[in-house]
Amino acid sequence: MCGIIGYTGNRSVAGVLVDGLRRLEYRGYDSAGLAVVSGGELHEAKAVGKVRKLEEVVAALPGLGSLCGCGIGHTRWATHGVPSTVNAHPHFSNDRKIAVVHNGIIENHQELRRHLTSKGCVFRSQTDSEVIAHLIAEAYDGDLLAATAAVLDQLQGTYGIAVVSDRHPGLIVAVRKGSPIVVGIGEGENFVASDIAALLAHTRQVIYLNDGDIAAITPEKIELRDIRNVPIEREIAKIDWETGAAEKGNYPHFMLKEIFEQPETVENAIRGRLDHEMASAILSGIGLSPRELLQIGHIVIAGCGSSMHAGLVGEYYFEDLAGISTSVEQAAEFRYRNPIIEPNTLVIPISQSGETADTIAAVREAAAKGAIVTALCNVVGSTIAREAGRGIYLHAGPEISVASTKAFLSQVVVLLLFALLLGRNRRLSRSRGAELVAEIEQIPDLIREVLEQALEIKKIASRYAHVDDFFFIGRGCLYPTALEGALKLKEISYIHAEGYHAAELKHGPISLLDEKHPVMALANDIPGRDKILGNIQECRARKAPVVAIATRGDRAIRDLTQDVIEIPPCSRFVAPLPTAVALQLFAYYIAAERGCEIDQPRNLAKSVTVE
Ligand code: F6R
Repeated sequence: MCGIIGYTGNRSVAGVLVDGLRRLEYRGYDSAGLAVVSGGELHEAKAVGKVRKLEEVVAALPGLGSLCGCGIGHTRWATHGVPSTVNAHPHFSNDRKIAVVHNGIIENHQELRRHLTSKGCVFRSQTDSEVIAHLIAEAYDGDLLAATAAVLDQLQGTYGIAVVSDRHPGLIVAVRKGSPIVVGIGEGENFVASDIAALLAHTRQVIYLNDGDIAAITPEKIELRDIRNVPIEREIAKIDWETGAAEKGNYPHFMLKEIFEQPETVENAIRGRLDHEMASAILSGIGLSPRELLQIGHIVIAGCGSSMHAGLVGEYYFEDLAGISTSVEQAAEFRYRNPIIEPNTLVIPISQSGETADTIAAVREAAAKGAIVTALCNVVGSTIAREAGRGIYLHAGPEISVASTKAFLSQVVVLLLFALLLGRNRRLSRSRGAELVAEIEQIPDLIREVLEQALEIKKIASRYAHVDDFFFIGRGCLYPTALEGALKLKEISYIHAEGYHAAELKHGPISLLDEKHPVMALANDIPGRDKILGNIQECRARKAPVVAIATRGDRAIRDLTQDVIEIPPCSRFVAPLPTAVALQLFAYYIAAERGCEIDQPRNLAKSVTVE
């Protein structure tokens, strides 16, 4: 949440910052701002709303766009204080010599505010972040890095911070605790950002800061210190995302682009991970020997939102294929529930961004309780990937649309591979393993077949674009798929949508059904399909319109409803994948018809870095 970008070099600072903020906008889009240090002066620009509003403000300020030097920018997802120019970052010290951008939450900000006010500080915003600028000003004694380091032990909470001052031309000081900061290495110029999407257009060489690291960044060099101001070294990492991976190309929205990328992103998730000879999977990142895998007695999966839904699909895989009891936890509840972690429990945190605060907390709780932690992340070098120390990357490339699509699919695929590996390590026969390998290899083509029906799905979606409510029902692995379909629809179209196990409908929600409450029934030809047919009849008997996802050629379903989205035949383990793609397209086209801001739905942000 909240995007940070900093630049020091010979290009137009405002130009680089605005461009970076545009690429980070998925992290928050309530307001945006920047500060540029050039010619010994500190210039600022702020705007409420999207980054394009900030761009207009910059364009209207004579000369700002052509200044070289250094600067910091921020796109905000409001936590403390309404979206306004006053609350937009950067925040300034009272003498306006120091500017600060911050991502995270300063939990003791009220106490610090009282202390600073008593010393004569005047606060302009309602944010928690403004205290940082005043504290640094208070500690400043000619050394910006030392002043920033000096205030850190007063800050409780999480932060990724970048600081500039007109007394230090060309210098950006950046620090992290709990909120990501990555330094981008250029030639004769350097960068800092909250995540690598903002850096892709400029460099492939990055340094991920660890908690407590402080960076002093100038065009010529990057110096790293720890909190005691002692020099430290960090590895330079190479980003392997392709140029253009974070661009929209010819698609109207990132979401549609990312939906259509899925045959390739799933191929990337599978590549090199199938072992035909052993009819198993190869997942070297999990760092566990066959003997250690055999000792796993229980699996706990933790995640939020779509990542948790992927985990719920995984639960079916691990129990059915590997015979290992599995539970799925909302990451937000995990540490507060005092979970029981028996010896030999494997905890699998799932997170696209690797920066979700609740999932990070779950990782720490699991590690503290002695679990084996193996993470599933998309973003290389993210906090969860690094803290877990072992795991499986999704290789889905940057996911820019706030609504997760391709990352969800890759999570499910990787969970299936993991279950195959654990299954073959235990009770799964070679022949069953070989069948699964073949099914997994077919997934990209199954997705392609669904994508070919995009226009059909669009037509069906247009018939439902006006509704206020939607129910999604499924059974088996398609139950969590129904939850995911409902989440996709509600988050991007603002239609109230609920996912239920099809059998649960009769335990309450059915009382709502009438002609205004359509039902999306996941009725693929897998075990449970006959029961779903009965559930569709029950819905129709209450006049609820039904859209069905069915296996191609299923006549019985066509007899029940005219709105059928056809999925190629596939097994129950693989069925969630093409089905989810159909549901993504359905949600997308409904939201498009309603004129919604699809890539940046209101109130949401891509990485939820606060609890
Ligand atoms: C929904 C969505 C969210 C995320 C959730 C977890 O489309 O994107 O529900 O899945 O915020 O995010 P990560 O996976 O980054 O931990």
